[in-house]
Amino acid sequence: MVDSVDFTDIRVAEDTIEAVVDVLESGRFVKGPLVERFENRFAETCGVDHAVAVSSGTAAILLALEAAGIGEGDSVFVPGHTFFASASPVLALGATPVFVDVDPETYTMDPDSLATAVAAADNPAAVIPVHIYGGMADVDAIDAIASEHDLFVVEDSCQAHFASRDGATAGTVGDAGAFSFYPSKNMTVGGDGGMAITDDADLAETMRMLRNHGRGDEGVHRRLGLNYRLDETNAAVGLRQLDRVRDWSERRRAAARRYTDRLADVDAVTTPFVPADVEHVFHLYVIQVPDREALADFLADRNVDTGVHYPTPAHQHPAIVSRVETPELPVTESLCDRILSLPMHPRLTDAEVDYVCSAIEEFYQ
Ligand SMILES: Cc1ncc(COP(=O)(O)O)c(C=O)c1O
Repeated sequence: MVDSVDFTDIRVAEDTIEAVVDVLESGRFVKGPLVERFENRFAETCGVDHAVAVSSGTAAILLALEAAGIGEGDSVFVPGHTFFASASPVLALGATPVFVDVDPETYTMDPDSLATAVAAADNPAAVIPVHIYGGMADVDAIDAIASEHDLFVVEDSCQAHFASRDGATAGTVGDAGAFSFYPSKNMTVGGDGGMAITDDADLAETMRMLRNHGRGDEGVHRRLGLNYRLDETNAAVGLRQLDRVRDWSERRRAAARRYTDRLADVDAVTTPFVPADVEHVFHLYVIQVPDREALADFLADRNVDTGVHYPTPAHQHPAIVSRVETPELPVTESLCDRILSLPMHPRLTDAEVDYVCSAIEEFYQ
């Protein structure tokens, strides 16, 4: 029985408040037992050997790549249709992001586009499939290309906590998985936070060291690391959210099914495609429409908030264009003009979904 939902809702479960107060009263704010407990529970829930809690999803991607030795001169393959932070850690490490196109139905990295880019790149070293919106990229096909070319695979699972494909959980197929707990995500830590997961003990140990100033057990700074630690209060919240996230994702799926059923007869709307073997967690419910801005305005007039994730493809941001050569990615670029995120959260009622769908029907009448 769920007694509360997420932090976009003001209600916070009593046990979460108590857990945070306990941390504050303990005076132990960092490097305490709750971070370790959160890591162990997260790893167990994913079915991997190691989880390393960090200060953000961006840090999780960065530390996984850094621990794998990715750096200057390396090419790292990233889909164009993603949030900026799938690519920025690559540049921060001095490596080169090579952008590849996405599949027009699932919006995730297109394995054929990846294969073409790998064949043409200098020093192919790593790939970052992104499980955008809570769906899952074709990790098996991507992993096959990665194995052939000895690429390190970090699954950007920042939007896909416990999504799965063919029974495999997001983040567990590649060498490492990265998660974000930013407050709008399917689960949060009551602030910023992230988690990197892996089955590789050496990689995990290096990530632990790098997140804590590159410091080894003996107190000597062995590598140049910075501070990417997660706080105890955040771990306390994360543990409570972990108890509930699957339930919330089930509610998101139910809302998504209702949207898709209700919008099936509106010809102008393309609803999300979910492959039969994918358990989507619907971080976002994104439709495609020809006249996005007009529909968004029409919905706003009826008090329906929508969003665009993302209006600018990752490879076209000034911070990227000024640093690397960027290709044309036709699918990514056409999506950016057509996508619209409808309201999606675990408290969404059937009546609210119906209200949004009726407004969309009215717009297209
Ligand atoms: C796909 C994707 N990658 C990376 C990130 C970065 O996560 P964070 O905001 O926790 O640094 C996010 C979250 O915003 C994301 O959605």
